Amino acid sequence: MQKLIISPSILAMDFSQVNQQITKFNQSGAQWMHFDVMDGHFVPNLTFGPDILTGFKKITKAFMDVHIMVENPTVVASWFVDAGADLITFHREACADIESCVALCRKLRSQGVMAGVSVKPKTDVKDLIPYLEEMDVVLIMSVEPGFGGQAFMPEVLDKVRQLHKVITDRHLSTRIQIDGGINAETGKLAVAAGCDTLVAGSYVFKRDMREAVHSLLCLEK
Ligand code: DX5
Ligand code: ZN
Repeated sequence: MQKLIISPSILAMDFSQVNQQITKFNQSGAQWMHFDVMDGHFVPNLTFGPDILTGFKKITKAFMDVHIMVENPTVVASWFVDAGADLITFHREACADIESCVALCRKLRSQGVMAGVSVKPKTDVKDLIPYLEEMDVVLIMSVEPGFGGQAFMPEVLDKVRQLHKVITDRHLSTRIQIDGGINAETGKLAVAAGCDTLVAGSYVFKRDMREAVHSLLCLEK
């Protein structure tokens, strides 16, 4: 099992207090910062462009984990590569076929950026399995993408178990990240199923950040 990583989603932060929130984030123990980029088409919500990432990079040293929920991932990924993303995770459903999905992973890696592929709750991971070597992260959505604060869908854990077995059997370093409705209880279920990277929005930003992150880091197996 890889070291557990916590990636708080800034979607849940109080944007009237950005500096104060980032200061607390920087002291929270979280290793990654999760950017939920939404285009108003692939999902029914609109959020951040690359300038926000550029700005945030000046006030945190966190690893920049960028989750793009957009219809045109190749174009949008290039903007976030230029802005300094460390990892870009795009959606399998936004790619015409698995070959174009793998091609974007290769392109990101050739640019020195880690590549992640995400699946919505109802999307299978079967066609990703032959290509896991090409992916640094597989992101399993545990809510329908679009909004923070939704309830965790435990049925997605079957996909986590399936991936974890393949990754272990093949001695791969691909991370299994989960996103949506994560708190200390659901995070425990996710880690038990094989997740090593937890995204949490509301749970971290709506309470004492340090305590919340610590309660998730404690779930490490
Ligand atoms: C949903 C986003 C998630 C979400 C997580 O589309 O990808 O990152 O903001 O928020 P919580 O933890 O509040 O479910
Ligand atoms: Zn996300």
